[in-house]
Amino acid sequence: MVERDDNASRVSIEPIRALDASYYTDPHAFERDKKRILFRTWQYAGHVSQVEKPGDYFAFSICEQNLFTVRGADHVVRSFFNVCMHRAHQVVEGSGNKRVLVCPYHAWTYELDGGLRKAPNDDKVPGFDRGKICLAEVRTEILCGFIFVNLDSQAMPMAEWFPDVEEQLRSFVPHIDALKPIAWNIIEERCNWKVSVENYSECYHCRINHPTFARGVIDPNSYNIMSQGHCLRHTTRTAPLENMTYTIDENANAHATDYSSWFLWPTFSFQVYPGNVLNTYLWRPLNVAETLVYRGWYNVDGAASGTLSKLAEQDLTTTVAEDIRLVNSVQQGLASLGYRPGPLVIDPEYGVNSEHSIRAIHEWIRDAHSQNPQVSESSTS
Ligand code: FES
Ligand SMILES: [Fe+2]
Repeated sequence: MVERDDNASRVSIEPIRALDASYYTDPHAFERDKKRILFRTWQYAGHVSQVEKPGDYFAFSICEQNLFTVRGADHVVRSFFNVCMHRAHQVVEGSGNKRVLVCPYHAWTYELDGGLRKAPNDDKVPGFDRGKICLAEVRTEILCGFIFVNLDSQAMPMAEWFPDVEEQLRSFVPHIDALKPIAWNIIEERCNWKVSVENYSECYHCRINHPTFARGVIDPNSYNIMSQGHCLRHTTRTAPLENMTYTIDENANAHATDYSSWFLWPTFSFQVYPGNVLNTYLWRPLNVAETLVYRGWYNVDGAASGTLSKLAEQDLTTTVAEDIRLVNSVQQGLASLGYRPGPLVIDPEYGVNSEHSIRAIHEWIRDAHSQNPQVSESSTS
């Protein structure tokens, strides 16, 4: 906000402030997050290697919305709400392979494309039209083998939300189509999901909190984060090769010594470490003050790798552990009666010590919440 004082002799500029604490602590705000953000954006479902053959399926949830993904007899990967169209029992549990989908309650049987094949005794019901009954399908897209769903049937395609990401990702990870998950480390954080996502999305805190990452993986002086649609693209030079905590073949390909990450608003990030090492972050909000973070690691054909295991372990015991302390503390602070949102540090030249990426996230959150009269920012002046 720009204000001119009474005698108009100078212009005073009020810095942009962080979001009001209620966005992170109020259960009504969490409900609004679900309806306005989480259920209207692209959310990670699983990896294509989990549904290689027709009939392969896996169940998952986004908040309380139970879903599953299945590969059809026609080889198309589809996702559905995991709810029977009879009287609402869940259709599948866990993962596996099925020829047809049989609801365990009264044995209504669905084809792999969601259409109802048969309901016991349905021929006795006048007007019962199997052709009109189908599981509720949700939008599904596959990006480099990663399956995403969007509960909003009107949502823009991923390529419009996240322009150029697929092309960039393929250039950083040329073997991405051959990758399979080898580890999912699950991290419990006692904070609102946005606290964790914001912490991931700035490196203003890196130098003092992540010594291993800041010395042994990247060069913090060159760290930058830029918006690319609703993607926040992180780029940096990497640590000198002799400081790296693992060895890489620097001549393997064009991006062999590079680091980059692509945070896909709101809950997923692809991250590439030097050596073309792909790893991912997935945030699953549990409630207003608890979040699960899944750290995924991948290798060609899912082969075990000592280097990757060591790297995943190093990540868990350094960067991840360091971040858990930060985000848990922030959540407690947001509940403090003494907290007033402070000014964001926005450097017009961007760089590692700028929070312009937080400003972008706060704008996305404010935009989403602006239709909600119950969640309004209190005065911060
Ligand atoms: S609820 Fe599924 S068959 Fe009845
Ligand atoms: Fe961090």
